[in-house]
Amino acid sequence: MSNDIVDNIISIAKRRGFFYQSAEIYKPIAGFWDYGPLGVLLKKKIEEEWRRCFIKDEGFFEIEGSNIMPEKVFIASGHVKGFSDPIVQCKKCNSFYRADKLIQEKKGVFVPERTSLEEFDRIIDKENIKCPSCSGELSKTRFFNMMFKLNVGPTEDSEIAYLRPETCQAIFVDFLQVFRAMRAKLPFGIAQIGRSFRNEISPRNALLRQREFTQAELEIFLNPKEKEFPKFEKMKDYKINVLLKGSEKVEALSLEELIENGIVEHELVAYYLGKLQQFLNTLGIPLNSIRFREQEEDEKPFYATYAFDCEIATALGWVEIVANHYRGSYDLSSHSKFSGKDLSIYDEKTKEKLIPHVWEISQGIDRTLFCVMLHAYRIDPQRGWDYFSFSPRIAPYTLGVFPLIARDGLSEKAREVFEMLRKEFDCFYDESGSIGKRYARADEIGVPFCITIDHKTLEDNTVTIRNRDTTEQIRVKISELCDMIRMMK
Ligand code: ATP
Ligand code: GLY
Repeated sequence: MSNDIVDNIISIAKRRGFFYQSAEIYKPIAGFWDYGPLGVLLKKKIEEEWRRCFIKDEGFFEIEGSNIMPEKVFIASGHVKGFSDPIVQCKKCNSFYRADKLIQEKKGVFVPERTSLEEFDRIIDKENIKCPSCSGELSKTRFFNMMFKLNVGPTEDSEIAYLRPETCQAIFVDFLQVFRAMRAKLPFGIAQIGRSFRNEISPRNALLRQREFTQAELEIFLNPKEKEFPKFEKMKDYKINVLLKGSEKVEALSLEELIENGIVEHELVAYYLGKLQQFLNTLGIPLNSIRFREQEEDEKPFYATYAFDCEIATALGWVEIVANHYRGSYDLSSHSKFSGKDLSIYDEKTKEKLIPHVWEISQGIDRTLFCVMLHAYRIDPQRGWDYFSFSPRIAPYTLGVFPLIARDGLSEKAREVFEMLRKEFDCFYDESGSIGKRYARADEIGVPFCITIDHKTLEDNTVTIRNRDTTEQIRVKISELCDMIRMMK
């Protein structure tokens, strides 16, 4: 897949209403994207699948916190001090760049974000890296805090707050409320799907690097002394692709091997790494395009003891879509200290009071959606048009309903069928243009099944279902249609 194809997908996304730049009729600000009707359907379905997999199946809890939170939250979380990117500015055209990404792009060398400023300057100097837009000389590197700062209230000296840069701080701040309200027992998880905001220096690649984006985050609270996890047993032979730190080779390791080789300590952690790979696979990402990259010491975030980035192979290289962090007791301890509230809880099983540790799954929904589109895109010279082969579980529309021709009473019958189906499925009705054109339009947006009403329908109440991927058609009774689609979905 080439970058032309990525551009092609972005152009289809715009033309067919998946996503496009925000405020396009003015001069848009880079890094802000709107979802159109098809994008909203696709995104909501991905979120719903995530919710099913990581909240409902696991018996965990979901909350919805504020996007704006007081400064003290982010002083406690460490973001005011530590949530910074290394940046350089062109002395000629004033463009800004992230120093680590610029070096990686220009020289193909990976430089961790937390490298010292002096080291960034040394590499830029040594490699003679100039401004990519105008070849101008670059400034010295400096750190830039990526949070959006706000004043809440009418005056400049009103309370300082921030737009949250990650959704999980609401989970830590609300931890005790949820624990008590739900009479939770360790281990348990609290999740949230919501917006995060980061003043990224070089937003790019459409949904991959935005300034406002959606995260689905799950924080699992555990007693660090409890190494076993009952659900692990059933999954222990399942293999995931791991790129260990210091290694250049991806290995397929079973969850049991992760434990036996001391790569992770807790069965719970291994189980959720496996579950994440399964989840991505159900969204249509092939297993050989998924890997878990263990982060090097100097690249993991300040709050993590160890971390695995879940990355997807794309035309743009490996893209991180889920960050998995062992956050230890970092957040709860720090919020206890800064708020003065004791956030320790009693573990009924071990009969001790403790601040639980946290295993975090932090998934970018927009990056996931974009990678799902990249992987679902099919070029099919034989059929004469390209299409998205979305899994029927997440395809924006499950069904298109068409009368073969818009006469002879077929439209009326087709509308009847459409009214029946739309009660349960996301579907649309189309009677304009030839049936071939309508199939092509439906394929282009990844509709898995098209229902056609023809003259035979008027005789025996049957319709055809066309399968998007095979283009084959089967005939079924209208009375059995809903059951059939439920089964195929
Ligand atoms: P990167 O190194 O690419 O900037 P990150 O390591 O800062 O990403 P995390 O802070 O670990 O990302 O965020 C968790 C997840 O949130 C990421 O895996 C990604 O899916 C999503 N995410 C982070 N930043 C962005 C962004 N600017 N735009 C879209 N999604 C993002
Ligand atoms: N909550 C973790 C992250 O955003 O990286």
